[in-house]
Amino acid sequence: MFFRKILPRYIALDLGTTNTLIHLDDQGVVVDEPSVIAINELKQIEALGAGAKRMLGRTPPNIRAVRPMKDGVIADYQTAELMLKAFLRMALQGSSVVKPRALVCVPSGITEVEKRAVRDSVKNAGVREIFLIEEPIAAAVGMQLPIEASSGSIVVDVGGGTTEVAVLSLGDVVVSQSRKIGGDDMDAAIDRYLKNRYSIFVGEQICERIKLAIGTAVRVEDEQSMSVKGRNMISGIPNTVEITSNEIYEALSETVGNVVSAVRSTLERTPPELAADIVESGVNLTGGGALLSGLDTAIARETNLEVRRAPRPLYTIIEGMGLILADFSRYKKLFNLRPS
Ligand SMILES: Nc1ncnc2c1ncn2[C@@H]1O[C@H](COP(=O)(O)OP(=O)(O)OP(=O)(O)O)[C@@H](O)[C@H]1O
Ligand SMILES: [Mg+2]
Repeated sequence: MFFRKILPRYIALDLGTTNTLIHLDDQGVVVDEPSVIAINELKQIEALGAGAKRMLGRTPPNIRAVRPMKDGVIADYQTAELMLKAFLRMALQGSSVVKPRALVCVPSGITEVEKRAVRDSVKNAGVREIFLIEEPIAAAVGMQLPIEASSGSIVVDVGGGTTEVAVLSLGDVVVSQSRKIGGDDMDAAIDRYLKNRYSIFVGEQICERIKLAIGTAVRVEDEQSMSVKGRNMISGIPNTVEITSNEIYEALSETVGNVVSAVRSTLERTPPELAADIVESGVNLTGGGALLSGLDTAIARETNLEVRRAPRPLYTIIEGMGLILADFSRYKKLFNLRPS
């Protein structure tokens, strides 16, 4: 116990647009929370994670509920750092007196400036050494793809703020594409649809709930419906409308089309040898967006490839990073990970 406390611990951190996950070396996932923090005027934390998410759109004037991440990167440095500090405290709970080392994933399309922001924030939050890893690589490990082999695999990670498509071979990314689209854009599209079609304003939280309940990426035969409460934009009075899955299909079609086109255009740039492997192995779909009903079918139709959805899409990356930490010296060499 004593030695445990003075040895530096290794953590893995997936600081996502929607969710933050932290894996602690021998304990597995110890933080699994929405990336939201609520602070008051004195910059004190009022709520964190799930508690803060419930406050979004409902705060009194002296409290701000903030999502510091946008499009896969840090959008609000100060609150991102506060949030990270709090999540790290939650993860470590006094289990170590020395600062931990961290494996942190970043989108593959990230700029040097954005990378530095992640590095600085994580360090300021109390980490002494950082190894950055590209998200598609961590996802591929999490899905147990044969990434060390010379055969090609393709990973599609649809998160809250970004969609990452990457073709991997011999432990590295060969071709990739990162688009700033994801679950958040789907929620915003539902919001726009309801405003245009029914003149009703419901807020981002309810739009996400509609997506989870009846959202679909393909037109369906047996439609589900849902009644939605909101404020009528013309009368200003609260009212209820009944919406159906195929209406949400229409609302989501542009964003879904954008995800599918990211997959297509990555395949078009893939060297023919690796493309031939992918015809055999199919497309590996992960990230919370993979849970959208019919997204696998939409990609399969457009690419003529088989699509395999990860068993636990919200955990693929953190589980991959956990596997990497469990055999760190080997993976460090394989992925050429350097501390900073
Ligand atoms: N059943 C579901 N159907 C559709 N979307 C879902 C479902 N479950 C979760 N999502 C969506 O998945 C997204 C979150 O996924 P994930 O946790 O992978 O994102 P993230 O890692 O935080 O974001 P990013 O990687 O873009 O920074 C949210 O937009 C959420 O609404
Ligand atoms: Mg993610």
